[in-house]
Amino acid sequence: MKNYILLVFALLALATAAKVNYTGHKVIRVTPETKEQLEFLRDWESSSEIDFWLLPSSAGRFADIRVSPETYAHVAAKLADMKMSHTVHIADVGELERQEQQNMAQRIAMFNGEKAIDVENYHTYEEVMAYLADLANTNPLVTTKVGGTSEEGRDIVQAIISSDLSANKPVHFFDCNIHAREWITGATCVWIIDQITTGYGSDPEITSLVDLYDWKFVPIANPDGYAYTWSTDRNWRKNRLVNNGSTCVGVDANRNFPIGFAGSGSSSDPCSGTYHGIAAFSEREASALRDLIAADRGRVKTAISMHSYSQMFLSPYGYTTDLPVEYPEMFRAMEIAVTALTSTYGTPYTYGNTAVTIYIASGDTTDHYYESEGVVHSYTIELRDSGTYGFQLPPDQIVPTAIETWNGFKAMINAI
Ligand SMILES: *[C@@H]1O[C@H](CO)[C@@H](O)[C@H](O)[C@H]1NC(C)=O
Ligand SMILES: *[C@@H]1O[C@H](CO)[C@@H](O)[C@H](O)[C@H]1NC(C)=O
Ligand SMILES: [Zn+2]
Repeated sequence: MKNYILLVFALLALATAAKVNYTGHKVIRVTPETKEQLEFLRDWESSSEIDFWLLPSSAGRFADIRVSPETYAHVAAKLADMKMSHTVHIADVGELERQEQQNMAQRIAMFNGEKAIDVENYHTYEEVMAYLADLANTNPLVTTKVGGTSEEGRDIVQAIISSDLSANKPVHFFDCNIHAREWITGATCVWIIDQITTGYGSDPEITSLVDLYDWKFVPIANPDGYAYTWSTDRNWRKNRLVNNGSTCVGVDANRNFPIGFAGSGSSSDPCSGTYHGIAAFSEREASALRDLIAADRGRVKTAISMHSYSQMFLSPYGYTTDLPVEYPEMFRAMEIAVTALTSTYGTPYTYGNTAVTIYIASGDTTDHYYESEGVVHSYTIELRDSGTYGFQLPPDQIVPTAIETWNGFKAMINAI
């Protein structure tokens, strides 16, 4: 019964919402080869609404740009002016979205209703919150904590898994889906929550990991943006703040933290996808994560920010190419994590410090967790894929993505 009701809701949502129509939109791939070309792409990203799916990083490394049928000729001409060629990497973003909807509906129809939600599928904000509430009611390991409330009034909820809250055990802290369209990140966190809560007491490895540590997850750190990806625009990244003095909406909460705030790799233009906001912690999503991690100060063993896509494991710093003093230890931990992750299904990952391995990103979570909170093992993970599906990663990749990622964490945690 339950699954039919969900199916009806999904179909209604599909039929009634006035959604951005991505039919005919392409994702093009462009590789800057010179410093000038790289600078050009960076300036373009930070001064316009052009939607970069993969931000320009360094010379020789590709960036992905989503273009509408109307803007394609203009974008191609601008790139040609800069002597950059491009390839069409995804021919029709709308088609990917239709496939995603179909795949999700198929999974809903197959779901046997044995859990509050099918953890192998993507879910709305409300469904994930109902799942967490159900867990908190039925599983003695689980409590929830509200870290803050979004502009539109949604709770920013942390799920806490602990066999003894009074023991003040070391904490593994995760934030997921701070970028709204990166659906695989929230789905991976939900799957790991499910894995831990169902495995305790029967799986010896999980039992020992819960006996030793507290596990804390914010599965949807940007609830308004995430809800908007379901209702209106599947490829929305930022939160939904109405910016004073601009018609462009939203702040990139992952550029709203204080370390290197407003530095390079973030934009002062409210129309840009990397707009940093008016001040550090001006955004409710950022201040909620600040308060949640501060509540465990001194106990946080690892702090992980989940992103997609590009298959990378990244350490501080993001805001400067300088290396932290603990970098050798971070590198060792990342190497162990990535080796275990890749050995699961062969998914290749690169790793290293953020600013050198991908790009300078100022004001991000990971630098805050490291620099302000003293968490040495603070990482950003860019999950699957490497661009075939981009943000519309098919739901049949949720479980393999989550399994390989979880294997990476477990190996890392055992080694640190
Ligand atoms: C989206 O746009 C395409 C072509 O522009 C059109 O054929 C299609 O019906 C539109 N889809 C929706 C759901 O409006
Ligand atoms: C919006 O910006 C204007 C001009 O900078 C300022 O005077 C006004 O107080 C701002 N309003 C809000 C609500 O922040
Ligand atoms: Zn992201």
